[in-house]
Amino acid sequence: MSNDALVMKVSTMAVLPILTAPDPILKSKAKRVEAVDERIRRLMADMLETMYKAPGIGLAAPQIGVLDRVVVMDIGKTEETREPIRMANPEIIWASDEDNTYEEGCLSVPEHYSNVVRPAEVKVRYLDEAGQHKELHADGLLATVVQHEMDHLDGILFIDHISSLKRNMILRKLLKAKKEAAES
Ligand code: NI
Repeated sequence: MSNDALVMKVSTMAVLPILTAPDPILKSKAKRVEAVDERIRRLMADMLETMYKAPGIGLAAPQIGVLDRVVVMDIGKTEETREPIRMANPEIIWASDEDNTYEEGCLSVPEHYSNVVRPAEVKVRYLDEAGQHKELHADGLLATVVQHEMDHLDGILFIDHISSLKRNMILRKLLKAKKEAAES
């Protein structure tokens, strides 16, 4: 293989399978990223590609089976207005007293949606793809998305914010769908 071909192969982004609940990895705590190196940048690129393909507006590393504290998001409406955000080790450093309710969904909880109450605005400190310290002040949909994705890093799904009755009903349906898929 020529050098050019090798470089091409390494830089090609990959669409990865997304884990769905119930899955023990989705309930696990992800570990802090030591340094934003080539492996992490590659992970971020693969996660964005996987998210756009799904399609979704946010994805956390545990959803593709990687227990690193990495999330990606893009709430841009079209391909032309893409605004990808890549975060390693995100931390909420401020949250508003005011709450907001959004109907949330998740690529790991396919075809189920539920209202979730979260702080309406948050400030998040994180490392970007260059390893630089950054801060994001998010409101509206982005505030919900970043909190939802960060929850994934601690093994929390949006269904953990709703009643256990509704959560268990959704989990039973997902488990049934998985069994049917495995049998077919
Ligand atoms: Ni999710």
